[in-house]
Amino acid sequence: MTGIISERSVDFYIKHKISPVTKNISRLAIYFQKRESLFRHLGIIPSFLAGKTALEFGPGGGHNSIFTLSLKPARYVLVDGNRTGLASVERLFDKHKNGVTQSEVVESFIEDFSTEERFDFVICENVIPLQQNNPAYVLRCVADFVKPGGLLVVTCMDPVSFLADVLGQLAGELIVAPEMTIQEKLDVMRPFFQMNLDALPGANTLVDDFMMDSIIQHYPKDGKMQSISDTINELSDLFDVYGSSPHFLIDWRWHKNIHGDHVNYNQRAIELYEKNIYNLLDYRCILTEIAERENTLVRKLCDNIFEATKKFRKDRQLMYIEAIRSDVTQLADIACQYSQETADSLNDFVRGLDAFISAKPWPWLEKFAAFCGRGTQYLSFIRRHDTT
Ligand SMILES: C[S@@+](CC[C@H](N)C(=O)[O-])C[C@H]1O[C@@H](n2cnc3c(N)ncnc32)[C@H](O)[C@@H]1O
Repeated sequence: MTGIISERSVDFYIKHKISPVTKNISRLAIYFQKRESLFRHLGIIPSFLAGKTALEFGPGGGHNSIFTLSLKPARYVLVDGNRTGLASVERLFDKHKNGVTQSEVVESFIEDFSTEERFDFVICENVIPLQQNNPAYVLRCVADFVKPGGLLVVTCMDPVSFLADVLGQLAGELIVAPEMTIQEKLDVMRPFFQMNLDALPGANTLVDDFMMDSIIQHYPKDGKMQSISDTINELSDLFDVYGSSPHFLIDWRWHKNIHGDHVNYNQRAIELYEKNIYNLLDYRCILTEIAERENTLVRKLCDNIFEATKKFRKDRQLMYIEAIRSDVTQLADIACQYSQETADSLNDFVRGLDAFISAKPWPWLEKFAAFCGRGTQYLSFIRRHDTT
C-alpha cells in the first residue's frame, strides 16, 4: 500500500526534527491513574492486555505507551513516521521495561505499514482527525490490523468539540505577524497560551509543544475532522462500537432483547452522539440533551467558523473575521440559555476579534482562557468474528 496523502501532519514533525507531544510524567502514578480512567471508560479492564498482542500507531514520544506497556502485553509493536518520536519511545521503554513484553518500534507511515500479523489490541490516539485529505482512509488502514474479536481504540473530533481549539488557533494567528520567524511567534504567543493552559486543570502539555503542535503547524495547513458518527459509519461493516470517553453510551435495553437484527450498537451510538452534540462544546458543563434543532444549529455555526478560519488562513481577508464574529455571537446567544460560563467565554473572544478588526492590540482574555471543549473523544470497537 502506498500513501495517497500528499501532505500529512507527520511531515511537519519530520521537517523540523521534533516530536512536540511531550507529556509531563513527573508524577507517574497520577499519570497512570488518568490513563487507567481512560481505559476504564473504553471498557478495558487492567488485566485485559496481559499476554496479548498490541499495536500502536502514532505513539508520539511514547508517554502514553508506557502505561500500555505496564499492562504487560506479550508483544507490543509501535509504528510512527517520525524518527524523533520513536527515539523517545525507545528511551522511555528502556527505562520502564517490564521483562515480560517483547516490544518493537517501526518507522513507517501508517498508510505504508504492512504485516500479515493481526493484533488483539490496536490503538491510534490523536492521529486520525486532521490528517490531510483523508482521515477515513487512514482509519481503515489502522482498523485492518485488528484480529476478529479484538479491540480497536481510535480518537474522533468534530467542529463543536474542537471549537475552543479552532478559536485558540485563530487567536494565535491574530496575535503574531505572518512574517515573524517561528521563534518570534512562539515568544509573542507564549504568555497568552500559558494563561490558557494554566486555566485548565488536568492539562499536562508543555506550552511550547502545544504552540508548535496546535498553532504553528496550522500555517498554512488544514486537515479534515473525523467525528464520532463519521468514525462509526466508516467501520460499521466490520466493527461494533463498545465504549467511549467521555462515557456517553448508555443502553437501557434488556440484554435478552439484544440479538440478531436487534443488536444495533452502532446506530444507537450515533443517535446518542447526535443528541449530545452541544455537550461537546465546553468540558465545564454537563447538560441534559437539548433540542435537535439547536444541536443542528450549534453544529452548523461551529462548522462555519472552522471553514472560515481555513479561508482566512489562506488570504487573511477581514470579511472572514467578521463572519466568524457573527457566528461566535450567535453561539453565545444560544449558550447563555444553557451554560452562562460558555457564553461569557465566547463573548470574551468576540472582544478579541473586535480589537483585531479595529487594529488594536490583542487583549488579555481571561474568560476565554478557561474555555475548553471536549476536543478529542475516544471510541473503542470490537471487531466482529465473522470478518477477516
Ligand atoms: C499528535 S501526535 C499524538 C501522539 C500520541 N498518540 C498522543 O496521543 O499523545 C501524532 C503522532 O502520530 C504520528 N503520525 C501522524 N500521522 C502519521 C502517519 N500518517 N503515519 C505515521 N505516523 C503518523 C506523528 O509522528 C506523531 O507521533
